[in-house]
Amino acid sequence: MKDVSIIIVGFGNIGQGLAKTLLAKKSYLKKHAGTGLRVVAVCEKKGRVVDEKGVDLKKLLEGRLRWGRHKTLDVIRDVAADVVVELTPGDIQTGQPGLSHINAALDSKKHVVTSNKSPIALEYKKLTEKAGAKGLKLLFEASVAGAIPVINTLSRELKANTCSNIYGILNGTTNFILSKMSEEGLDYETALKEAKTLGFAESDPSYDVEGVDSALKLVILANSLLGESISYADVSVEGILDVTPECIELAIKHGYTVKLVADVREKKVSPRLVPIGHPLDVSDNLNAILAQTDLSGEITLVGEGAGPVQTSSAIMTDLIEISNNL
Ligand SMILES: NC(=O)c1ccc[n+]([C@@H]2O[C@H](COP(=O)([O-])OP(=O)(O)OC[C@H]3O[C@@H](n4cnc5c(N)ncnc54)[C@H](OP(=O)(O)O)[C@@H]3O)[C@@H](O)[C@H]2O)c1
Repeated sequence: MKDVSIIIVGFGNIGQGLAKTLLAKKSYLKKHAGTGLRVVAVCEKKGRVVDEKGVDLKKLLEGRLRWGRHKTLDVIRDVAADVVVELTPGDIQTGQPGLSHINAALDSKKHVVTSNKSPIALEYKKLTEKAGAKGLKLLFEASVAGAIPVINTLSRELKANTCSNIYGILNGTTNFILSKMSEEGLDYETALKEAKTLGFAESDPSYDVEGVDSALKLVILANSLLGESISYADVSVEGILDVTPECIELAIKHGYTVKLVADVREKKVSPRLVPIGHPLDVSDNLNAILAQTDLSGEITLVGEGAGPVQTSSAIMTDLIEISNNL
C-alpha cells in the first residue's frame, strides 16, 4: 500500500472538511484505493502543527493540539512530504498567498493539489510548465464547481473527445438567488439575505454576484480543457445585479428562467434566458455544466458547487491520482 504524506496549507472550511473526510475514509481508502494518506503538517495563519508520523486530525479538529509558531513557506519547503494541499483564499489580482505556496511546493519537489482558483486562473501556463518540467503533478479539480468532477471527466474519462465548448452555471450563490427570485418571486435583496442565512453567500458576496468568481472558473476551464491561453481580462463579465423581478416575471411568461451562465468559447459571463426544463434549469445552489464533445455529444454534469465535504471529494480524487502514480 502506498503511504502518501501531505502538508495541508489553510485550515478553514475546506481544510477542516478535508480533515474530516480523511478521518472518515481512512480504512475505505486503504481497502479500495490502496492508499494511505498521512498528514504530516497543517499550516494556518496563526501557526502550524507538524508530526512526521501523522498529525492527529481528530485532536486538531477538536482544538486539542497546540499550534507552533512558523512561516508557512518554511513548512512547505522544509517538512518532508509528497504533496502540498493548498487551501487558502487567493487574492484575485495577485494570486497570493497561494501562488507563493504553490511555487514553493513545486520548487521543493512536492506535488500540489489545490482548491484555490486565483493562482490557477492567473498563472496556469507558468505553473503547469514548472510542474511538468519537474515531473510533478499540479491538480486543481476542486477549484471549479466543488464536487462536480468537470476537469477530470473531460481530461481523463473523455480523453478521446474533442471538446468544442463548455458552458454552464459555475456559481452556487447566484444560482440560489436567481432560483429564489424565479420560483418564489423574491426580490434580489430578500433572496440574498436568505442565501446568507443559509450559508450559501459570504458576508461580502460581491465576487459572486458580480460574476467575478464564475469568470475565474471560466478561465481555468478554458486554459486547462480547451487549450486556450486567456486571462481574466479577456472575459466579458456581467453579474446578476441588474436582474429585476420584472425581468424574471417576463422570462417565465415566455417559458424561460434566468441563469448566470459562463460560456467558455464566448469568454463571457452573463445572465441568460434558459428554457424551463433545459439541463441548465437547476435550482437552489446547484451548479450545472454542459460540455459539447464530438464523440459523446453533449455531456451534462450537475451537482454541489461548494461546501467543505463536497469539495473534499474533488481534493481526495486528486490525492488518490497522485498516490496511484507515485
Ligand atoms: N468554501 C467552499 O465551498 C469552496 C469550494 C471550492 C473552492 N474553495 C476555495 O478553497 C479555498 C479555501 O476556502 P475556505 O472556504 O476554506 O476558506 P476559509 O474558510 O477562509 O479558510 C482559508 C484558511 O486559510 C488560512 N490562511 C490564509 N493565509 C494563510 C497563510 N499564508 N498560511 C496558512 N494559512 C493561511 C486562513 O487563515 P485566517 O482565517 O487566519 O485568515 C483560513 O483559515 C479558497 O481559495 C476558496 O475559494 C472554497
